[in-house]
Amino acid sequence: MLRKLVVGNWKMNGSLDLVRAMTAELQSAAPDLTCDLVVCPPATLLFEVARALAGSRIGAGGQDCHEAGNGAHTGDISAAMLREAGASWVILGHSERRSAYGETDSMVRRKAVAAAAAGLKPIICIGETEQERDAGREAEVIGAQIRGSIPEGFDGVIAYEPVWAIGTGRSAQAQDIAHIHAFIRTQLEQIGLEHGGRNTRVLYGGSVKADNAGLILATQNVDGVLVGGASLIPGDFIAIA
Ligand code: PGA
Repeated sequence: MLRKLVVGNWKMNGSLDLVRAMTAELQSAAPDLTCDLVVCPPATLLFEVARALAGSRIGAGGQDCHEAGNGAHTGDISAAMLREAGASWVILGHSERRSAYGETDSMVRRKAVAAAAAGLKPIICIGETEQERDAGREAEVIGAQIRGSIPEGFDGVIAYEPVWAIGTGRSAQAQDIAHIHAFIRTQLEQIGLEHGGRNTRVLYGGSVKADNAGLILATQNVDGVLVGGASLIPGDFIAIA
């Protein structure tokens, strides 16, 4: 059994006040946690989050990185910069970045290579849109994303986030999550990642809340959750963990 992983994605939310409140509550809850926990705040807050969580088993992560190490890329942040700010993880290929910035599978793959080279564990997001789901194309879409965005020798985490479930309050049903996660696992085997056992954690994301996390985390092939909105409320995030 892989240890469960709970990741909080603050997106473009939060403040120093939230960092103080969240990290204080996480530090006091930490001794009772049985899962791994990671907080991914906006880049400007990363240093403070990492500093406040130093010495605990709770990690900090970025929400994106550039594929290059440095250079003329105004507004971008490299994986090494995230690492220096205290991150051990980075979310890559979130659907909001794929849709707002046209991030492609091959860009995500290059970012994952850069992240690993800088010592970060990538959390690669995949998932179908509502339109693709209605057309029955989930497997085709997810299979292509896996083949396109996961580099060879990948040592990180996959997050299955159906786009229609993100921020909508409409989480996927447990049986659908189990079905897709089993499919993802066979795809990971096909690209040579599973080595006959389970090595890669596959998270579910999309409207995970304190009241549905238990059911989702108990679902077969679910190794954790990627939490957006509910990760901004300390009590809710801790309840999920
Ligand atoms: P949500 O976001 O929990 O607010 O639906 C999840 C995500 O986008 O990672």
